[in-house]
Amino acid sequence: MRRSLPAVTLCVAAVFFVVITICTAAAQKKAPEPMILLLEGAKLAPVPFSHTTHVEKIKLDCIACHHKDKNPKEPDKCVTCHLLKEVKEGAPPAKDAFHKNCQTCHKESAAKGIKAPVKCAECHKKQAGAN
Ligand code: HEC
Ligand code: HEC
Ligand code: HEC
Ligand code: HEC
Repeated sequence: MRRSLPAVTLCVAAVFFVVITICTAAAQKKAPEPMILLLEGAKLAPVPFSHTTHVEKIKLDCIACHHKDKNPKEPDKCVTCHLLKEVKEGAPPAKDAFHKNCQTCHKESAAKGIKAPVKCAECHKKQAGAN
């Protein structure tokens, strides 16, 4: 009898772990980390982007970037609304939307003394095809 106790404890712990994992996964669609941003037909190097930096380190809300989604925790890609060339329903083309979102905040941060990429090559740095 004495031997079965640890097994029961382990079993309960395992069930808890599974339940918690499933619940967390259901509550939030997880973004890949890191992400590599690249528009169709892009000429410059792709842009690496980290949710860990922006969400965990500097504590931004999802809505700071996923600004029009009904549920910002389950966002669509920016290009769903921001087309490659045309303006659709007032939404500027994708390149302008990305630049405005990323660069406005990075410039403001830099002005406050928090170092964030502002030069072309600091964002456009990932070689296409490389990992
Ligand atoms: C804060 C980050 C950031 C900075 C700084 C930045 N970009 Fe971008 N840029 C992006 C993102 C994100 C995209 C969309 C993903 C992609 O690269 O295709 C983009 C897209 C583009 C595109 C369209 C896609 C392509 O590669 O043809 C061009 C052109 C571009 N940027 C030029 C520039 C130039 C020129 C500069 C410097 C004057 C610059 N960017 C600085 C983040 C940045
Ligand atoms: C600083 C800006 C920023 C913040 C804050 C942010 N995201 Fe994102 N997220 C992005 C960008 C940019 C993409 C790439 C979108 C694309 O490919 O068009 C993305 C993509 C995603 C994707 C993948 C979407 C897809 O279908 O490919 C998910 C999921 C996601 N984010 C969830 C979240 C959640 C949840 C939060 C809040 C906890 C969050 N994001 C906060 C910028 C941000
Ligand atoms: C569901 C549609 C939708 C999605 C998804 C979406 N946007 Fe937008 N966005 C719009 C519309 C519509 C506008 C123009 C009207 C407005 O700003 O209210 C806009 C405007 C913008 C602007 C300009 C705001 C200004 O003040 O000039 C930026 C920057 C922007 N979006 C960035 C992004 C980024 C980055 C993503 C992805 C992380 C994204 N958007 C996803 C619909 C969308
Ligand atoms: C609302 C503010 C804000 C927005 C929006 C934002 N950033 Fe940032 N980003 C920061 C700050 C602040 C830092 C510096 C973080 C640190 O290292 O403490 C940073 C750092 C970075 C870095 C360098 C650190 C790392 O994670 O590699 C990259 C690359 C970057 N951002 C890309 C982007 C791109 C691409 C976008 C647009 C899709 C974006 N950011 C949008 C505030 C922002």
